[in-house]
Amino acid sequence: MSFKEIIDFNNTLTKNKKMTLAEVYGKEKFCYFIYSLIKMQQPEVVVELGTGLGTCSLLMGQALKENNKGKLLTVDNGKDWDSIKTHLNKKYKSHEEFFNYVLNKFKLKDFIQFEKFDLEIAPLINPNKPIDLLFCDALDTGPLGCIKILKSYLPLMNNNSSIFIDRASTINHSYLMLENIINSFNNNKIPQVLLANLTQEEIQKINEIVGNSKFNLVHLVENMHKKVNKLQNSTTWIKIEPVDVLFTNNVYNSL
Ligand SMILES: C[S@@+](CC[C@H](N)C(=O)[O-])C[C@H]1O[C@@H](n2cnc3c(N)ncnc32)[C@H](O)[C@@H]1O
Repeated sequence: MSFKEIIDFNNTLTKNKKMTLAEVYGKEKFCYFIYSLIKMQQPEVVVELGTGLGTCSLLMGQALKENNKGKLLTVDNGKDWDSIKTHLNKKYKSHEEFFNYVLNKFKLKDFIQFEKFDLEIAPLINPNKPIDLLFCDALDTGPLGCIKILKSYLPLMNNNSSIFIDRASTINHSYLMLENIINSFNNNKIPQVLLANLTQEEIQKINEIVGNSKFNLVHLVENMHKKVNKLQNSTTWIKIEPVDVLFTNNVYNSL
């Protein structure tokens, strides 16, 4: 199964024909961005919080398959299933049955691991290897939600990695807070709220990653023209790189 067949699946019209499956959660353009990034960077460990209809998971898995390298762990508790199943033309008993069906159909089982997991009960899913790319697309991404994500996942991030947070760039107080936090990180300072109630080990990991890294904050915002789901129109990209003068992560530098 190919890239093209996954695109066709994402572009299938919903039952009411008002939008495509990819437009239900507004990921109809971002899915290509993250596909391309995975092709370029060839990560080993990718984590997605919130599988939904699989718009991004399937293209991320396809990119890993084309790289023949890496694995995506995607989790969902099925909370939205009752509403999103109404968009599908075929009937499935559960969200798990639906997603396992598409994983088999697109032959992606070797590159995508799907787990039913409730992030409300435990905000953390730990792949037990440093995360190269994290896509947070479940839960609240208001300021408190962003703090929760950074507290939980910063200690798990690789020294050369990316965190994507759905919608935070166009939720104005999340935008302002993230600008402030990233500015503090680049001045080697950690806002106290990010360290509260963490273990000594987690605090040490956050200290290490902040102390040794350069953080870039990119606001991927979408033009409103022809955008069906106007609320789902941005993704915040926090790019973490070691402080260095060359790219040393298997990237050729002209010297
Ligand atoms: C925005 S959708 C994900 C969209 C998907 N990433 C895409 O590419 O289109 C959010 C998903 O998160 C799931 N979700 C909501 N709350 C959750 C929780 N507490 N734990 C795990 N999944 C949750 C919902 O069931 C829904 O499928």
